[in-house]
Amino acid sequence: MPVVEMRGVTKRFGSLVANDHIDLEIAANEIHALLGENGAGKSTLMKILYGFYQPDEGEILVEGKKVVLKSPVDAIRAGIGLVSQHFSLVPTFTVAENIVLGFESSSILNREALNQRVHDTARRYGFSIDPNAIVRDLSVGQQQRVEILKALYRECRVLILDEPTAVLTPRDAVALFEALHQLQQQNLSVIIITHKLEEVMAFSQRVTVLRLGKVAGREVTSQTNPQDLARLMVGRNVLEVTRNTDHKASDAVALSVKNLSVSDNRGILALRDVSFSVHEGEVVGIAGIAGNGQSELVAALGGLIKPDSGDVRVTGKALELGDPRSFIEHKVARIPEDRLKGVLGDLSVAENLALEQINDFTQLGHLNHKHIQQSAQQLITDFQIKAKPNDRVRTLSGGNIQKVILARTLSRKPAVVIAAQPTRGLDIGATEYVHQKLLEQKARGAGVLIVSEDLDETLLLSDRILVIYAGQIVGEFTAGQANIDHISLLMAGSKVATD
Ligand SMILES: Nc1ncnc2c1ncn2[C@@H]1O[C@H](COP(=O)(O)OP(=O)(O)O)[C@@H](O)[C@H]1O
Ligand SMILES: [Mg+2]
Repeated sequence: MPVVEMRGVTKRFGSLVANDHIDLEIAANEIHALLGENGAGKSTLMKILYGFYQPDEGEILVEGKKVVLKSPVDAIRAGIGLVSQHFSLVPTFTVAENIVLGFESSSILNREALNQRVHDTARRYGFSIDPNAIVRDLSVGQQQRVEILKALYRECRVLILDEPTAVLTPRDAVALFEALHQLQQQNLSVIIITHKLEEVMAFSQRVTVLRLGKVAGREVTSQTNPQDLARLMVGRNVLEVTRNTDHKASDAVALSVKNLSVSDNRGILALRDVSFSVHEGEVVGIAGIAGNGQSELVAALGGLIKPDSGDVRVTGKALELGDPRSFIEHKVARIPEDRLKGVLGDLSVAENLALEQINDFTQLGHLNHKHIQQSAQQLITDFQIKAKPNDRVRTLSGGNIQKVILARTLSRKPAVVIAAQPTRGLDIGATEYVHQKLLEQKARGAGVLIVSEDLDETLLLSDRILVIYAGQIVGEFTAGQANIDHISLLMAGSKVATD
């Protein structure tokens, strides 16, 4: 008998059907992956199972018995626990206090008894954690453990994790999955939401794939493969983008950055004396956890902020730092980290496409609208943008907005491309498209710098990888030597000996 069964569960938000008659079965003792693209309805379905939303139709059975979950309190009572993408811990409380918070009134227990209970729970599940530690002092991975322990302390039999690895380094992610295996040994079932195929393949026994609010497929993991899962997820064949490893970068330097230092808005050095270069026909990836100077680096390399010091050259010519026009003139293409800031949402697609070369469209001080429209139509076709020239950009999907940015900047045949988080929040199809476009730029001889928090992406595309930590480049690897464990350690600030 399944531990949990959802039958015909439907949830509407206004006219949007987020979950459309979904059937889901979770067996005892399994790690079940819930796979799907952004917006497929995964979080909604799990929030229903956790009593956070009420379904419009359908029913839920726990151990064969129908239950009505009016709130998370009901779900917890039914043995269901959820760790969401955003933690709900109190940073100034201890681990033990956070774990019992809202469950037992702490007046019943003195601190010692409390710590002992939490310690026992942790030990029972093979977690090592200090009940007395203050949550604020813990790493993200450890905080996640506290969230999991919190659910375990409430005796959950089914643990739901919503995209748990999105906030972890690859090394912490492996440690998490080891911990989940331990739970499985103890008769727990785990539902893990993810859009990462490798995780599904490596750690789950079964997988349910959602697409556009419906179940697109159910598979036994050992009997499927990443290509088939990707097809179920996206609804069509997915090409695997591969780096052309035979392609040799030229000796000529496209981008040279020397001794670049940038202070943040509090006057603290966010980037410290950073030097590197990108060759023509080379992709260099910057790997790092968010907040280690990447934003400042990208802003400085778009001329958007004036560095404290440094020298930036494109094909040998020095740029005017802090002046975006100098970067545009020297053919630096910028794919901004926040794509909504890279466009003017209230202007049309055609106007946005013309932004960086407005002079080409101006005659005797007047904009040539006909020319702007014609050029836009061509770019819409070339870059497969699903929009019309006169559509407001803000009405487009994330993937299509990113295509507008790519079309605008890559059509100018850049010497250097600075791509910041180029696929963040995009679905597989759009991600694949962006990757292809970046590799095309490399093939035509541009120097491409990719700054991404997604290490898989960085490894997939880069010929060379630089690791950034606390505003400094702390490691360099060529694609062939890149070792994920080693890179993860450096990303986390550990000083490992480089061999
Ligand atoms: N509270 C809400 N109100 C309105 N629409 C929502 C709400 N929550 C989710 N949605 C919509 O429901 C769909 C499914 O969202 P979600 O379950 O978060 O997907 P996933 O977790 O698979 O990315 C999306 O189109 C999303 O915009
Ligand atoms: Mg979600």
